[in-house]
Amino acid sequence: MKKTFLLVVLFPVLNSSLHAQKASPVNEVVIQVNKPVTAISPSMWGIFFEDINFGADGGLYAELVKNGSFEFPAPLMGWRDNGNQNAGKLLIVNRAAQETNPRYASIELNGNGVYSLTNEGFRGMGIHKQETYHFSMQAALTTGNATLKIELLNAAAAVIGSSTITLSQGAAKQYTASLVANDTAQRGKLRISFEGKGRVEADLISLFPASTWKNRPRGLRADLVQKLADLKPGFLRFPGGCIVEGKELANRYQWKTTVGNPEERKLIMNRWNVEFRHRPAPDYYQSFGLGFFEYFQLAEDLGAAPLPILNCGMACQFNSAEVASLSDVDPYIQDALDLIEFANGDVSTKWGKLRAAMGHPAPFGLTMIGVGNEQWEQQYIERYKLFEKVLKGKHPEIKLVAAAGPYAEGDLFEFAWKEFRQLKPDYMDEHYYKSPEWFFSNADRYDNYDRNSIKIFAGEYAAHGKDNTQAESKNSWMSAMAEAAFMTGLERNADIVKMCSYAPLLAHVDAWQWRPDLIWFDNLQSMATPNYYVQQLYGLNKGTHVVTALADNKALSGKDSLYASAVIDSTSKELIIKLVNAGDQPADFRFALKGIKSLKGQLQQTVLSAPELLTYNTLDQPLQVIPVTTVIPAKGKSIVYQAGARSFTVIRVSYVQ
Ligand code: AHR
Repeated sequence: MKKTFLLVVLFPVLNSSLHAQKASPVNEVVIQVNKPVTAISPSMWGIFFEDINFGADGGLYAELVKNGSFEFPAPLMGWRDNGNQNAGKLLIVNRAAQETNPRYASIELNGNGVYSLTNEGFRGMGIHKQETYHFSMQAALTTGNATLKIELLNAAAAVIGSSTITLSQGAAKQYTASLVANDTAQRGKLRISFEGKGRVEADLISLFPASTWKNRPRGLRADLVQKLADLKPGFLRFPGGCIVEGKELANRYQWKTTVGNPEERKLIMNRWNVEFRHRPAPDYYQSFGLGFFEYFQLAEDLGAAPLPILNCGMACQFNSAEVASLSDVDPYIQDALDLIEFANGDVSTKWGKLRAAMGHPAPFGLTMIGVGNEQWEQQYIERYKLFEKVLKGKHPEIKLVAAAGPYAEGDLFEFAWKEFRQLKPDYMDEHYYKSPEWFFSNADRYDNYDRNSIKIFAGEYAAHGKDNTQAESKNSWMSAMAEAAFMTGLERNADIVKMCSYAPLLAHVDAWQWRPDLIWFDNLQSMATPNYYVQQLYGLNKGTHVVTALADNKALSGKDSLYASAVIDSTSKELIIKLVNAGDQPADFRFALKGIKSLKGQLQQTVLSAPELLTYNTLDQPLQVIPVTTVIPAKGKSIVYQAGARSFTVIRVSYVQ
């Protein structure tokens, strides 16, 4: 707390010393406050979630045991025994006829000491001192007698929490124990030790912190969800990304295998397991503990519109380019129809009933679906048409998102636009992973788009700048400032740009495959990047309507490295100005406010800036780049403001009309 306070005080000092460097010509910007140009979509600023970088298992999904069901292809991956063959012998039994969860561990105890299994977690387990952990295991003691000791270990294998259970002979049942940790461990482990003589069949071994988001049993990591909630996202796109497509169709995302009893959800390889040779993740699988029900629930918790992206019968075209033949696309379309029923259907319907059984009888209010992720060329158009015909026929109320392909321009992009201009989907999903320079110079990208064509979903974007060896280093202030500048253009064009999301969202510092990312975390804590704060400042200052902000009768979009946009909140009667000064000198502004009687109350200026362009936050130093808010009395009909060099400012002030 103290550290935060200090920074809050220091930053204005730093800014004002920058301000003192040199006088510059005043930039006159005219804002027509009383003439809204267009309404801003309530879903304008949202979030993109994909299980990449250990975003789900090992991340948002708070399960601490890796491979607790022994269903990884290498059934003992993540587990290690104590090698005491005199005490016990382990077999992994495979009931091959069983579609889900076929394997379990069978342990023959010889009555000669202790046989134990230790689970390493996802790059260790984060264990917090004083926190309660809920252990559970499905087990049958088929013969003899046995006790089970459950222990939390720190990295040095010292016990930091334990509990003991006596197993009773008979059919399989669930054994549970709650443990309180007496110390914190960054890379803790779980050890389960068996002692006795007899046979134990064990499965579904699990350890969760008691304190999860909304304290839901087997829930989500509270600190991570809190960071998402603090963005106030307008929509939640899930489950990706390329993960929707799979490297091959066999490991595409199939929502039906991710709902119902978590223990029966069918585990598959995570496509990021093998995607990048330089970032191998051989232990990356999808348990689907975080599945489609949980995504819808998360969207609801966040007050965000759910936006599922579905496979359209195409695997990743960068990988296998495998497609379902056109005569075999129906099951994919049926999945989309069934998803609409799962989300919105009456509880008397098959899928609505399942939703109710999972604890949510009320509909989730699904209004849109993405057909495919980064698909391209004719094979995509052919499949999209099949989806569109059925979905628009049966569910005209559901809006469809079509993909513009993986690139922001070029042949694939042009082809997609040419085709979709005819087909008229509700949204085009454009992606741009580009340099900061590209973002600065493309802030006017949408100024000249056809106003009467398809609405835009900027579904994945991030400025990819320079980096050093630290995981978080690509999330530099430079990249965040470039995005802030670009976003003035998204905001200014809110008549056609309806949804926008940075990507990817989450990354584990010890287990990432892709960077930059919006939020970094380890097993114990999480950190907001400068890019996160940019997203948050837009999300918290969305406004309801765009108003014009013109310098020399033109939008300020790159001239002298300056960028500006303005919105009003027509309910609270507030004006909000976003301003980026990407130059290396302070810039003076006078905003002339037309159509109001006067400003009133306090004028709030929130500044995001950094000592160096390549400054970034880390888990150890998370406060290097943070927003700093100051307030001054508001008066008159103009605002005089000096924007510090390399800064992003949000000015917010009430007015009387
Ligand atoms: O965000 C990471 C990946 O980038 C997504 O999975 C994919 O859609 C894009 O290529």
